[in-house]
Amino acid sequence: MGDRVVLAYSGGLDTSVAVKWLQKELGLDVITVAADVGQGGDWDSIKERALKAGAIESIVLDLKSEYADEYLAPAIKANALYEGRYPLVSALSRPIIVKHQVDIARKFGAKAVAHGCTGKGNDQVRFEVSTAALAPELDVIAPVRSWGMTREDSIAYAKAEGIEVFATKASPYSIDDNLWGRAIECGVLEDPWVSPPEDVWDLTRITAESDRELILGFEAGIPVSLDGQALSLADLTAQLGSIIGSYGWGRLDMVENRRVGIKSREVYECPASLAIIMAHQDLEATNLERDLAHEKQRLEPRYAELVYDGLWFSPLREALDQFMDKANERVTGEVRIACEKPGETSKGTATPGRVYVAGRRSPFSLYSEELATYGSGDTFRHEDSEGFVRLWGLGLKTWASRSGDLSR
Ligand code: ARG
Repeated sequence: MGDRVVLAYSGGLDTSVAVKWLQKELGLDVITVAADVGQGGDWDSIKERALKAGAIESIVLDLKSEYADEYLAPAIKANALYEGRYPLVSALSRPIIVKHQVDIARKFGAKAVAHGCTGKGNDQVRFEVSTAALAPELDVIAPVRSWGMTREDSIAYAKAEGIEVFATKASPYSIDDNLWGRAIECGVLEDPWVSPPEDVWDLTRITAESDRELILGFEAGIPVSLDGQALSLADLTAQLGSIIGSYGWGRLDMVENRRVGIKSREVYECPASLAIIMAHQDLEATNLERDLAHEKQRLEPRYAELVYDGLWFSPLREALDQFMDKANERVTGEVRIACEKPGETSKGTATPGRVYVAGRRSPFSLYSEELATYGSGDTFRHEDSEGFVRLWGLGLKTWASRSGDLSR
């Protein structure tokens, strides 16, 4: 029996070639683990493919519920958006994959784990830093980073080794997807001036033909129902994504700062995640006391950044999660989301519809109509304002009186 390695396996060309490479070049016994985090896939044939490539064991794990409950839920509470926009689709899925990879490595007495990331992206950072945090004793091997093969080389390697190559409808893009959305890179998108071609869209293909409303119910910051029907977070995310996606809503086109110093042009479709975060932010705006809301908004970018940077398994994330949990205790209520039907350009191509928050209500709402109203029933003490405003401006008034005429 040789030394063992546990490879995070996607079923694609690179990780299939990696099985063989680890075996041949490094003399290791390879155990593959493929994780279903909602990306969809034919798991039986993925399992088979790893064995055919030479794995001694091929494991497939359905992690959708765990992914939703343990990774997406905290991200929702933190309104986690990297650089204010990207809901961390890939960044959130790597730690859960690593967690299971490490568990399997321990169970099988493996000395190392391996992943199929290149040397230019963020995902290698997330895999390796997460492994270091959870299992410092394990080595990490990155075949794709080490082997120096072009895509043509690896196709040739696969053919020579009798590995099936599924490059039938070779997508020009590099795709990573899961319950939280879909990331699209490469091909023509590498020119940031070029508009994303229609064929990049999958989750947000425009098919909706009429307006509709949705009611999203939240409990302690987490969406728990859709139009009154109680759902698990995994199911709710999937259902909401297919509805909102049909309006062509949830697309992002951005230039983003990778952790490794490269600016990259990224296209995303995130109908469910962006709609959930939008609704959640709205309910927080209604229910959170002002200072708590403002402090939370200061911490949110930090949270998103640490997740992006591969620091999920860190004391800072744990501490911030406790803050986010506390802040979300009363973020319970309903948000009404309006979806307006897609339009058309003058050339007849469909344009995305609008999706927005149209209303909110909550037993913990701090909105008080009798304080806010300009109509009858007003209970606000107008006379209190006079002294308050005078003191608020007193310091400035004093300063101005010593500074001469500031209007010139
Ligand atoms: N830029 C995104 C991130 O770093 C997406 C990465 C997508 N990965 C991929 N293999 N296509 O989180």
